[in-house]
Amino acid sequence: MQIDVVTIFPGMFPGALGCSILKRAQQAGRLRVTVHDLRDYTHDKRRTVDDRPYGGGPGMVMRVEPIFEAVEAILGAEATTQHRNGARTQQTILMSPQGQPLTSALARRLAGMDRLLILCGHYEGVDERVKRVVNLSVSIGDYVLTGGELPAMVLIDSVARFLPGVIGHAQATAEESFADGLLEYPHYTRPKVFREMAVPKVLLSGDHEAIGTWRKLQAMAKTLASRPDLVTASVRNEQQRGS
Ligand SMILES: C[S@@+](CC[C@H](N)C(=O)[O-])C[C@H]1O[C@@H](n2cnc3c(N)ncnc32)[C@H](O)[C@@H]1O
Repeated sequence: MQIDVVTIFPGMFPGALGCSILKRAQQAGRLRVTVHDLRDYTHDKRRTVDDRPYGGGPGMVMRVEPIFEAVEAILGAEATTQHRNGARTQQTILMSPQGQPLTSALARRLAGMDRLLILCGHYEGVDERVKRVVNLSVSIGDYVLTGGELPAMVLIDSVARFLPGVIGHAQATAEESFADGLLEYPHYTRPKVFREMAVPKVLLSGDHEAIGTWRKLQAMAKTLASRPDLVTASVRNEQQRGS
């Protein structure tokens, strides 16, 4: 998968992309991330990307022209002339607190695309006309960050995990939190007892059926305790499927 990122802070990316699983995914050729400096698409001496908002008010707004130029240079002129460049295998994504919430299901869907172009906002956000080139706005949560770079990195990481071969054990993404609407069961490793806290006996039993049942019950209990909204959503989905 090819991911292009357009940002005014390209220096923020090498750290997150140059470590651990994201680094290995790129080395193995499963993921390619190209970070573009939005200021390279400006034409004035000061490489200006923002301006004061029409109608007044605090803060600055990111200008539409450099963003259109960047998108055209990266994806081709048709990306800005066709409303919502709709190729199924390509998405232009704006990171925004007003966007669709990032979920495991969305990350999995995006992992099925050939190419993503991610736009990182700053200041008060981007000129609304940028929406012409955007297929999808994505929020990483109901809070406001100073810029779209950290959200873009979160999105890249969440998508990369679903690319074939990126997580060593395919089962890992099938059994983790949200995969089946529940939070994941608890994990333990050595030692068997630590400061009087013992590993549950069933996990030492070697009885895989019993372990499976215990894990399912634990996942249900955890989800009910921490995220009852997930249980409600799952019940609603089942009811809808049944009706
Ligand atoms: C300070 S925010 C702008 C917030 C905007 N004025 C509003 O109230 O909706 C600047 C940029 O950070 C990014 N950003 C901030 N919070 C985000 C979130 N929760 N999810 C995704 N992107 C976010 C977006 O790219 C946004 O354009």
